[in-house]
Amino acid sequence: MNGEKRRILVTSALPYANGAIHIGHLVEYIQTDIWVRFQKLCGHECYYVCADDTHGTPVMLRAEQEGIPPETLIERMHAEHLRDFGDFLIDFDNYYSTNSEENRRLAQDIYLRLKAAGLIEVRTIEQLYDPVKEMFLPDRYIKGECPRCHAPDQYGDACESCGATYNPTELLHPVSVISGARPVKRASEHHFFLLSRCRDFLEDWIRRGYRGDSPLQPEAMNKLEEWFAAGLKDWDISRDAPYFGFEIPGAPGKYLYVWLDAPVGYMASFLNLCRREGLDFDAFWKPDGGTELYHFIGKDILYFHALFWPAMLHFSGYRTPSRLFVHGFLTVNGQKMSKSRGTFITARTYLEHLRPEFLRYYFAAKLSDRIEDLDLNLDDFMARINSDLIGKYLNIASRSAGFITKTFGGRLGDLACTEDRAVVTACQEAAEELAALYEQRRYGEAVRRIMELADRANAYINEHEPWKLVKKEDRQARAQEVCTTALNLFRLLTLYLKPILPGIAAEVETFLDIPPLRWQDSRALLAGTTIRPYRHLARRIEAAQLQALLADSREDLDAQQSEHTRTRHGQAQQPRSAPPAEPIAETISIDDFAKIDLRVARIVAAEDVPGADKLLRLTLDLGGETRNVFAGIKSKYQPEELVGRYTVMVANLAPRKMRFGVSEGMVLAAGPGGKDLWLIQPEEGAQPGMRVK
Ligand code: MSP
Ligand code: ZN
Repeated sequence: MNGEKRRILVTSALPYANGAIHIGHLVEYIQTDIWVRFQKLCGHECYYVCADDTHGTPVMLRAEQEGIPPETLIERMHAEHLRDFGDFLIDFDNYYSTNSEENRRLAQDIYLRLKAAGLIEVRTIEQLYDPVKEMFLPDRYIKGECPRCHAPDQYGDACESCGATYNPTELLHPVSVISGARPVKRASEHHFFLLSRCRDFLEDWIRRGYRGDSPLQPEAMNKLEEWFAAGLKDWDISRDAPYFGFEIPGAPGKYLYVWLDAPVGYMASFLNLCRREGLDFDAFWKPDGGTELYHFIGKDILYFHALFWPAMLHFSGYRTPSRLFVHGFLTVNGQKMSKSRGTFITARTYLEHLRPEFLRYYFAAKLSDRIEDLDLNLDDFMARINSDLIGKYLNIASRSAGFITKTFGGRLGDLACTEDRAVVTACQEAAEELAALYEQRRYGEAVRRIMELADRANAYINEHEPWKLVKKEDRQARAQEVCTTALNLFRLLTLYLKPILPGIAAEVETFLDIPPLRWQDSRALLAGTTIRPYRHLARRIEAAQLQALLADSREDLDAQQSEHTRTRHGQAQQPRSAPPAEPIAETISIDDFAKIDLRVARIVAAEDVPGADKLLRLTLDLGGETRNVFAGIKSKYQPEELVGRYTVMVANLAPRKMRFGVSEGMVLAAGPGGKDLWLIQPEEGAQPGMRVK
């Protein structure tokens, strides 16, 4: 830590360009950003680069579905991602795209170098081909019957019913998810990267480590041992046209598989930065350049980063990563993020309700150097922000700054008394320990330690009661000292929290009228200067904000099901005559589906809801049990025509309190809304209460 200036290049995984940034992603970008900000605060030369991961079949098909060129789609997503990250105070030095000239050149060149090293082999393989769409089908775009357990509707690579993995060509009765056609087997030449020949190098890379330390956390090491034991398989790095990606040099109609050019995107983004700012690219990418390279990634992409990537780098003449920093997955309220529970929260929806720094703080409080999953428990989130950030940290300033402003014209006093100095010194001495915790990504421990210091600061204020001192003529000087001590503690805590709360820290710097705090400033003191009046820097989280966040996150689903009347920005939904081709939602497992209890229901009563222009109140018979459901179907149906009809309802949906009463489920309807709405009706003979599966 001491003295020597490090040169560090840091990356986060490149998010896919075919979806919005969500709070799961943010675990990684926030974790990385805190680390980078800490390095920069320490005065190290540190760069943080990232990019959108733009290539591959999903982007190509989505653009096609939207009727736009893939370039237009990825441009739009790039702008959205950049705005989301910016608003979460993720401070990239460069946020680029894998669909760039730099990346094309680097990726094609790496391919050629690997080929020259004898590590590329062309083999003819048989794959499933969609004769209607005229393209080879990735595993996930083929469905059929599991060859082992005969479960229908399984993907081309694995059965979610029995867990078997297999080749797509083994699927029984396969169909193309894209066209519905029956795929045919077709032979084609593929380029393979011979990972099987890289084993000695990889074992050595892992054992030798960076400066004697393993490049991997212990849990990641265990995974690698497993993979080594299973044997390293050669890697198919080519795809046939049509494909959105880079062509393979000397192989017309063949493209580099997206996972080959994606990590090269780290280099390309940095190269782009180097060209803009006149930095030395080679110092960071040639072997032994004396620089450090770190990749922050999620546990799901370890294989690519711990095996393919170092091997690709090494055998094309580049340096290997100093370390991989792997994190676990985010759950919300103890469960996988879910659209129906409203816990699939996008960055944008979060920002419409809450301050970005609250999430940064909460994630920091939960992060460690381990690969554990972490949970965003919303009750705990609210309690923690309100008690730690507002109740402890910011409270120090709000309890002491007012007196300085009102009684002493904004002027700070001295830290003359030994006791005051001692409490400030104790807080200063934590800097080293906190630096080590940040360096080691043990943010949760750092936060706990900082909150202990905040407790001490508040205890100091309680003991000295400046609000009593100011009232006594002869104790005014002491009051000024006490408040000055408190504000010194506040300044130090602000510095310690600055990697996590950069926005609040900047506001505090303005309030204290000091230049931007650096880590070394922990040694300095604040005395005799003038501060600006204190304005409250954050407000408590209210439960209603969290409820609104969940409701808004549930909305896409609701809008589709016409379950309630509110739309995100309060606008009425526009009825459309031709429904847009809505992309098929994210894949769920059979177990996910089994959680939804669908039942045949008979509508025994239907009535208008006073004050609601879209809702009808339905009384549903579930074969013994009745339910009250508010359905947004009034635009299409008269209450009288519904009575006696049968429909299908979600029977185990959490009851939802609405303005008009509690809705105890949801009926199913198709269509975009307005007059284009069709209530689902089972075939005659189905009885109320029967399960639909
Ligand atoms: N495009 C690839 C990465 C290529 S890197 C050369 C990819 N993209 S992703 O958008 O799916 O994920 C980006 C990062 O976010 C990954 O590191 C992934 O692990 C992380 N996360 C995505 N969802 C997550 C959670 N729910 N929780 C924590 N991290 C998650 O993978
Ligand atoms: Zn099976």
